Amino acid sequence: MKFQERIITLKDGRTCVLRPATPDDAPEMLVWLKKTAEETEFLLRYPDEEKITLEEEVEILRKKYEDPYAIFMLAVVDGKIAGNCGVAGIGYKRKFRHRCSMGIALYKEFWGLGIGTALIEYQTELAKQIGWRQLELEVVADNVRARALYKKRGFVETGRHPDAMLFDDGTFHDEILMYKLLNE
Ligand SMILES: CC(C)(COP(=O)(O)OP(=O)(O)OC[C@H]1O[C@@H](n2cnc3c(N)ncnc32)[C@H](O)[C@@H]1OP(=O)(O)O)[C@@H](O)C(=O)NCCC(=O)NCCS
Repeated sequence: MKFQERIITLKDGRTCVLRPATPDDAPEMLVWLKKTAEETEFLLRYPDEEKITLEEEVEILRKKYEDPYAIFMLAVVDGKIAGNCGVAGIGYKRKFRHRCSMGIALYKEFWGLGIGTALIEYQTELAKQIGWRQLELEVVADNVRARALYKKRGFVETGRHPDAMLFDDGTFHDEILMYKLLNE
């Protein structure tokens, strides 16, 4: 969806722009998808599984930009994409359309500067405006940083998927389910 750009000041004094992703961001996003998958195990994919073509990425970003029920927000620092946060509805059928879910990731060099907090705050505002009742997410149990951030932003833990992920090193990892009511 289209929304207004917001400018924030990071903990290191730099400026960060929060804005919608557009199809023009596709080339940089492809690099971002691969590199972030290399930098952390806590995302859903390994770098070699990232096979989206430029044309496909352009189309994905175009659809998200034009969809009034999808938020795809970039954080840009010094003209470079530092990370993004996306929110989408869980389903369009009446029984599910009060729910949306969120994903977020930043390049490692931008962790700890307050970008995650700012993305979640702005996303939450927009998700409320769209009319969703609750924002949900899943996080790997060992992802202490992300769990701390979500808790600080008002998410509560509601359950656990045992052995939800199998890493390449042969270890299994639980996922924690979290949610936040948007109408409070
Ligand atoms: C998770 C992620 C988005 C967080 O973004 P971020 O910009 O680093 O987060 P912020 O700097 O806004 O805030 C993190 C907060 O958690 C706190 N925190 C960090 N590590 C912590 C820890 N080990 N224990 C307790 N609190 C911790 C920080 O102090 C900060 O709180 P504060 O602002 O009150 O000081 C980012 O680290 C990331 O992209 N990680 C890799 C991808 C990922 O894990 N995505 C989530 C998948 S579910």
